[in-house]
Amino acid sequence: MILNFVASMLIVECTRISLCSIVSSLFSGFATMTVVPYKDKTTGKREQIAEMFDNVSPKYDLLNHVLSAGIDIYWRKKAIKLLQKEKPQTILDIATGTGDFAIEALKLNPKKIVGVDISEGMLAVGREKIKKLGKENVIELRTGDSAHLPFSDNSFDVLTASFGVRNFENLLLGLTDMYRVMKPGGTCVILEFSKPKTFPFKQLYNFYFRYILPIIGRMVSKDTSAYTYLPESVQAFPDGNDFLKIYEQAGFKHTKCIPLTFGICSIYVGKK
Ligand SMILES: C[S@@+](CC[C@H](N)C(=O)[O-])C[C@H]1O[C@@H](n2cnc3c(N)ncnc32)[C@H](O)[C@@H]1O
Repeated sequence: MILNFVASMLIVECTRISLCSIVSSLFSGFATMTVVPYKDKTTGKREQIAEMFDNVSPKYDLLNHVLSAGIDIYWRKKAIKLLQKEKPQTILDIATGTGDFAIEALKLNPKKIVGVDISEGMLAVGREKIKKLGKENVIELRTGDSAHLPFSDNSFDVLTASFGVRNFENLLLGLTDMYRVMKPGGTCVILEFSKPKTFPFKQLYNFYFRYILPIIGRMVSKDTSAYTYLPESVQAFPDGNDFLKIYEQAGFKHTKCIPLTFGICSIYVGKK
């Protein structure tokens, strides 16, 4: 009975994904990402994203690790390791949220890490974690929008962003300003969800993302939209080569995509 249900949901999922790919290839303008969490509100994506992350911030870390079975920790470690040979002294972590990527970047032994985010709720949780670690002298969390970063050109040795760029209101604008504040010769490492392409991972992943994750997310976070927005935004996000095209349009050079865990997540590396 349960197997029958799962099998029929997988068939529905396969059909839905094929239709989605046809529709998204017809409308391939990715620079402005129009999937929003609260469809009945008239506020813009940036405001809705800040509101959603403020709402889920007290439960964000817990949900992150539970919903990914802890694999997000491994993804962040893997991405930060790529920066080891750069020996960066200054790091800017974009869309830092509760600071997990910035905290992982402490392993690079830099003088300064600055994390920016548009959600005050997420930053408040992050500041508490950094205080507990006694690392306030190294990591500073500031309010800031990726599209208008409050830093002068060529300020940071490296840039990082984990699970943030998918939420930008305008992806190209955000990436372009990230490029602006990075020093020539610097490296940018972006970690983001992507869509597995092969059977059966594609179908299993979509089944989990569409039917299981929103239920758990809704129960724990109490925000009915946040964990429906997650699969929808991943589906609409230009991943793999589509992302690399926009990355290069923003100025980044020698770009590459490193898929992780059957392509559930990808690391995008770019140089200035
Ligand atoms: C899924 S969380 C990721 C947080 C953290 N980087 C991590 O790995 O757990 C996405 C974060 O992106 C932030 N964000 C979305 N759009 C942003 C923007 N335009 N500028 C800065 N932060 C943004 C959100 O407020 C949220 O905290």
